[in-house]
Amino acid sequence: MAPEPEDEMNEKNPKPLDEDDIALLKTYGLGPYSASIKKVEKEIKDMAKKVNDLCGIKESDTGLAAPSQWDLVSDKQMMQEEQPLQVARCTKIINPNTEDAKYVINVKQIAKFVVGLGDRVSPTDIEEGMRVGVDRNKYQIQIPLPPKIDPSVTMMTVEEKPDVTYNDVGGCKEQIEKMREVVELPMLHPEKFVKLGIDPPKGVLCYGPPGTGKTLLARAVANRTDACFIRVIGSELVQKYVGEGARMVRELFQMARSKKACIVFFDEVDAIGGARFDDGVGGDNEVQRTMLEIVNQLDGFDARGNIKVLMATNRPDTLDPALLRPGRLDRKVEFGLPDLESRTQIFKIHTRTMNCERDIRFELLARLCPNSTGADIRSVCTEAGMFAIRARRKTVTEKDFLDAVNKVIKGYQKFSATPKYMVYN
Ligand SMILES: Nc1ncnc2c1ncn2[C@@H]1O[C@H](COP(=O)(O)OP(=O)(O)O)[C@@H](O)[C@H]1O
Ligand SMILES: [Mg+2]
Repeated sequence: MAPEPEDEMNEKNPKPLDEDDIALLKTYGLGPYSASIKKVEKEIKDMAKKVNDLCGIKESDTGLAAPSQWDLVSDKQMMQEEQPLQVARCTKIINPNTEDAKYVINVKQIAKFVVGLGDRVSPTDIEEGMRVGVDRNKYQIQIPLPPKIDPSVTMMTVEEKPDVTYNDVGGCKEQIEKMREVVELPMLHPEKFVKLGIDPPKGVLCYGPPGTGKTLLARAVANRTDACFIRVIGSELVQKYVGEGARMVRELFQMARSKKACIVFFDEVDAIGGARFDDGVGGDNEVQRTMLEIVNQLDGFDARGNIKVLMATNRPDTLDPALLRPGRLDRKVEFGLPDLESRTQIFKIHTRTMNCERDIRFELLARLCPNSTGADIRSVCTEAGMFAIRARRKTVTEKDFLDAVNKVIKGYQKFSATPKYMVYN
């Protein structure tokens, strides 16, 4: 190492503490019982070590015993003795909770049997309708199995919370309020509903023109709740084979029921929720079956239970009335076009992370885009940024915004889906 100047050395290696300093330091953070707690902790450790020594168990980083203790031969023998089990379903328990309880099992494509339990299962482990593993000789129940759920259904749970919060939703005050009432209140204060003797709404349908923040708000809800959030896009449920879609819906709700609290969000439900009609070919029957299974599941669960269903669509007129009748999706929340104040707010939300000039008159900008949706406004902000980049500037000016409004609002009017939506509804 190269020699360093002296004062730097001093800084790096300060003068060592003398004994008084150390004694003083030692009194810091010393509670009344520190010494005795330390002593007990040490004793516990010693005792644990002694026990381990007596047992001859050593901890290894792989979690396996030391190779010298391996008994491969008898392991192999054990593996050979243990046969593969067969999956069956326990359909009924005869004389439950008594000594001579018997179990009716259904082995798929073979037969039904009345059997007893293996040595290693206790009667409390087995319930009716459960999947179980049975041996191949006497068909005794050997182990309980978890319910079978399609991996593609399991994939739909949203584990990472989206980073959208209610603060990122401009306007939509009423909609947020209604949504929270349905989703949060029954989960946080179920006793209110019990006291009044009413059932809280089971679900919410969000509808409105594209780009008004339906998906956005659902993501904000997902962020807020501690409940498990399952997001399904309608088209995911349209499957190749007959009955697959309906089965996926069933498994989805089965999974939802196994959670403590759960929110299921169907985005773009028009893909499956279309009104029933006969096209003469029968191609759409499958889609209708999927929808009917959703209806069935909506009826099936208890409203006070902790499953809430949200749906979003921009073609509410095409939905099947059966899906919308009160008692299934009781709440219908319309997402309209944002008003002036909301538009100003949305402008502010989307420019929050942008490097803008100060004193931009967002209200003026909001006034200049009547009848535009949140998505339009976001596009304006992006476009303004593009203008600034083209001019090689580091900040976005108000003029950029005005140009962007001209370009986006005037230019894209032809493509806007909002007028069409207004005609349909
Ligand atoms: N009320 C709003 N506040 C802030 N941003 C919005 C709002 N509405 C729409 N947006 C913007 O538009 C984008 C598209 O909105 P989205 O919720 O996906 O529309 P849709 O209603 O068609 O599902 C969002 O990602 C968001 O950036
Ligand atoms: Mg959407």
